[in-house]
Amino acid sequence: MNAITKNRPIKGGEPIRHDKASDVTQLPSPRYIGHLSFLTNDNFEAMKVFYRNLVNAEMVNEVPGLLYFPSFDGEHHRFAIIKVPSLKPKSASTERTVGLNHVAFSFASLADVLFVYKHMKALGHVPTYCCNHGTTTSFYYQDPDANEAEIFVDNFDHSPEVVNYKLTTQFLSGFGEMSEGNFDPGKMVALFEAGMSDTMLRDRVEVRRLVKEGKL
Ligand SMILES: [Fe+2]
Repeated sequence: MNAITKNRPIKGGEPIRHDKASDVTQLPSPRYIGHLSFLTNDNFEAMKVFYRNLVNAEMVNEVPGLLYFPSFDGEHHRFAIIKVPSLKPKSASTERTVGLNHVAFSFASLADVLFVYKHMKALGHVPTYCCNHGTTTSFYYQDPDANEAEIFVDNFDHSPEVVNYKLTTQFLSGFGEMSEGNFDPGKMVALFEAGMSDTMLRDRVEVRRLVKEGKL
């Protein structure tokens, strides 16, 4: 067991129960989402590096050049990155298609997200866009195979507050306003490091005001 899996317990990771058939009388929910599996080809090594760095994951085991299983907590693997040499890359077309839109990783503070932003930037990965959705402050990336990956922090400290905002406020002015919360991540880092509070920088009203003033 490596340092990652040893030191990071999983929420909902209580031991497996030995239920009898008669114990399960209602449709169960999963404990949590277990892992993401990516089929890749030429970008196998780049995909490994990208996800290892985006979420500070550590390799649990691998078949070199073929299979890679990293984890960011006590789960046995959070990703399965699988090289299939016969596979074509995703279409280079910019036309969007149906399918999985993105995967999103929830961080514990704005400082965490901004640290990851700077870390990824140093590796040559910058977000395609950043947005305050009211509920979350989200940074969107394209991985080396052009899948979208989001990192975010909730804009309220407690989950019920986020749920309440989503229910009552997020789309009050319609869905089309969502991109109005787009901001410049470099400017956010500068404001944060100059002392602006994370609470203000996660407040959608304040973010929109700062964007309008050209400060964010
Ligand atoms: Fe999302």
